Amino acid sequence: MLKSTEELDARACACTKQFDDKFTGKNGKRAVVLCGGTGCLSSNSAEIADRFRELIEENGLTSQVTVNQVGCFGYCSMGPFVKIYPEDTLYRMVSIEDVDEIVDKDLIEGQVVERLLFEDPETGEKITRQDDLNFYKKQHRIALEACGIINPEEIDEAMGFGAFKGLERALTMEPADVVKEVLDSGIRGRGGGGFPTGRKWQFAYASEADQKYVVCNGDEGDPGAFMDRSILEGNPFAVIEGMMIAGYAIGASEGYFYVRAEYPVAVNRLRIAIEQMTKEGLLGENILGSGFDFMAHIRLGAGAFVCGEETALLNSIEGKRGMPRPRPPFPAVKGLWGKPTIVNNVETLASIPYILREGAEHYASMGTEKSTGTKVFALGGKINNVGLVEVPMGTTLRELIYDIGGGIPNGKKFKAIQTGGPSGGCLTEEDLDTPIDFDNMVEAGSMMGSGGAIVMDEDNCMVDVAKFYMEFICDESCGKCSPCRIGTKRMLEILEKITTGRGTMKDFDELETISEACKTNSLCALGQTAANPVLSTIAHFKDEYLAHIQDEKCPAKVCKKLIHYYIDPDKCRKCSACSRACPVETISGQPGKTVFKIDQSRCIKCGMCMASCRFGAVVII
Ligand SMILES: Cc1cc2nc3c(=O)[nH]c(=O)nc-3n(C[C@H](O)[C@H](O)[C@H](O)COP(=O)(O)O)c2cc1C
Ligand code: SF4
Ligand code: SF4
Ligand code: SF4
Ligand code: FES
Repeated sequence: MLKSTEELDARACACTKQFDDKFTGKNGKRAVVLCGGTGCLSSNSAEIADRFRELIEENGLTSQVTVNQVGCFGYCSMGPFVKIYPEDTLYRMVSIEDVDEIVDKDLIEGQVVERLLFEDPETGEKITRQDDLNFYKKQHRIALEACGIINPEEIDEAMGFGAFKGLERALTMEPADVVKEVLDSGIRGRGGGGFPTGRKWQFAYASEADQKYVVCNGDEGDPGAFMDRSILEGNPFAVIEGMMIAGYAIGASEGYFYVRAEYPVAVNRLRIAIEQMTKEGLLGENILGSGFDFMAHIRLGAGAFVCGEETALLNSIEGKRGMPRPRPPFPAVKGLWGKPTIVNNVETLASIPYILREGAEHYASMGTEKSTGTKVFALGGKINNVGLVEVPMGTTLRELIYDIGGGIPNGKKFKAIQTGGPSGGCLTEEDLDTPIDFDNMVEAGSMMGSGGAIVMDEDNCMVDVAKFYMEFICDESCGKCSPCRIGTKRMLEILEKITTGRGTMKDFDELETISEACKTNSLCALGQTAANPVLSTIAHFKDEYLAHIQDEKCPAKVCKKLIHYYIDPDKCRKCSACSRACPVETISGQPGKTVFKIDQSRCIKCGMCMASCRFGAVVII
């Protein structure tokens, strides 16, 4: 039980030594560290860790080698990862079958297993260390600082890496000065809206009440987004610390984590962290002898996108149906159970300890003038390096997509990047050199959003992309107000007509009219921004809409109703592979005798024939 800052310092000092010794081998041991993020866990990293433990014991190495699981390394498409210290050797895409070889060759003989190292895609050179990979070179980690390094289930590891130093400093300051420090850092909320965090705290600080609350928004409903999940999985201590600093600053003694139930690993690690901090006296009454009381609780969300909207979230915590409330009053004045409440995103709170530890000026020196610090993005879609990256604000999209993301796979051409999820829009080739920040993204016709970034190539149909997001929004609309409930449904119907060749120019014009109605009349930002993906695809790819409507053609050859599979008789070698693969037996021909032919009337456009033809004879027209 830590009763004072002196006791915390002494403990942190011991933990830091232990932690450093582990990585430098000064403790006389080697350390095997595995990624225990959800992505790698789903590729058996827990079983791989068990196999390491088993073999280490069998080989009598238990006193010489430790095995530890940490959070996401970021480079999820290359997981599961295994790292060996003190050499700092990184093995990628490790399977359970590889463990024997790593133990025999690396742990016992001291040699690197070359075949499991990264290979530079351009030079073919093998890369041993994580920091030498292009994926990491331009990153700057603040919210993800300790992710992939500490064991998120061990408070000592977190302390060994500097946890609670921000809180410790905050507790020596007046609450108003903590608010000012956050204001001066320039940090803006990472949950999507980009509202200055310090200003929000100022409002809550100024609200008089017998009880105030801090709520951490870990709902994360954007398709393709996993920033908040990874932060909670990789370092829950930082998010709790950020919440406590917020609580101290505004005068709140209770905090709630709202995390979707589909994130069991994150919830479990959060629970463990809260238990360990409570045991150490870092949560509870009179924390570190400062007189500050704070307790954190967890509430699970059922996975509704609208429950990420702060007032719907508050309703959900209160046990009511997750529907947005009219604003004002804003939560900072009247929030949870009618009390002043600040709702902050996971990444925002995870950045707060760093700001208090390193100072507002240092934080504000990173990024751009109006968007300071760093931003975490979940890179996905048609990109070589799928994963989680944290870059200084001001990094260009080109750097993000090509230098870090490794460009577009299979030599295809970049077409667009969707940022801001279903509330955002797409950015194209002409925006690639735009420095990423809140204002530039809006100016370019999209928004930063919470960090989902989905890359599309020449094979994506942008009308189909708009339809995908509208389907999502239509499903997720809570139905409380009619512009959104009815408007999103009507827009989806029009997009369905267009993608099946039944759309008219009148429909096309109506899309814009309904978009405007949704934007101006909806109660919450879900409806207000629902049409953004449609409007931005129209702005950049109007010709694709017109091709669907006027020529009944899908230029990217995606929309099933507008394409036909066809066998080129000049290329067909009469092998019959396509006919054997066709699930509806609609391809006829005699093996070795006649060219094969598709009966279009029964074709369900599954693409199996194309995938099975080795001679490129099946084409889409
Ligand atoms: C439909 C909808 C979904 C949202 N989902 C999230 C979410 O999953 N996580 C989040 O932090 N903010 C989400 N927001 C934004 C929140 O309402 C709120 O602005 C945010 O949590 C404030 O935190 P910040 O200031 O730290 O960004 C959503 C907003 C809307 C309209
Ligand atoms: S805009 Fe949509 S999600 Fe928001 S309150 Fe209205 S119906 Fe519900
Ligand atoms: S698989 Fe290709 S080559 Fe063989 S029969 Fe079908 S179309 Fe012709
Ligand atoms: S697309 Fe599918 S259903 Fe159509 S011909 Fe090819 S295999 Fe058969
Ligand atoms: S989950 Fe393992 S690298 Fe992301």
